[in-house]
Amino acid sequence: MFTDTHCHLYKEYYNDLDIILKQAESNNVNRYIVAGCNQKSNEEVIKLINNYSNIYGTLGIHPEDVENYNEKDLYFIEKNLSNKKIIAIGEIGLDYYYTKENKEEQIKLFERQLAIAEKYNKPVVIHSREATQDTIDTLKKYKVNGVIHSFSGSLEVAKIYIKMGFLIGVNGVITFKNSKVKEVIKELGLENIILETDSPYLTPHPYRGTQNSPKYILNIAEFIANLYSVDLEKLAKITNDNISRIFDI
Ligand code: NI
Repeated sequence: MFTDTHCHLYKEYYNDLDIILKQAESNNVNRYIVAGCNQKSNEEVIKLINNYSNIYGTLGIHPEDVENYNEKDLYFIEKNLSNKKIIAIGEIGLDYYYTKENKEEQIKLFERQLAIAEKYNKPVVIHSREATQDTIDTLKKYKVNGVIHSFSGSLEVAKIYIKMGFLIGVNGVITFKNSKVKEVIKELGLENIILETDSPYLTPHPYRGTQNSPKYILNIAEFIANLYSVDLEKLAKITNDNISRIFDI
């Protein structure tokens, strides 16, 4: 059985979650880590982990929400870390894709959440887009490990993250026709990767253009199993072992 290590199973995207989870289960996916991005979704993560025994959560303020958070939101994250099903801080990080103008604020928010992770000894789920060097420099100031979610960088960068104690999160992008990420992932070794869908975004080939869903972990798994010439059972075991190495799950 596989785990979807990064998805956003919020009500605004999935009005009947039970059906979505049932479909996933028939595709051998039976555990989920739902990532929060802001106060609203963080509150939803808490509801989901209380309602479903196989859903775990992470809480964080996403860099795109840097203009819309306040002190209370950070306190909410800290306070809920005592919940055993909140297994990491995330997704947090840096995103310079839309603008670099709020770079200082993004780094400040990122650092404050890394400090919380360090204080409570929690792993972090990292979102980094067009901000590789600043992400690495900022992470190096803290004693944290975790996952680089939706990794799309070079082999050299992947190796730096792995050396720093991070796993590489692989999603449907690897199945895209022009994706260069498969050459990188092939070189990393299965012991360094975990599978995610990032639902409802980044639907794998050949379902692009429709809404993503955790059931498509199977398609990503088949692609990687092929790439490494292993069977699905072995891939499930290795990636689940990787998850247990980083997360208390
Ligand atoms: Ni995400």
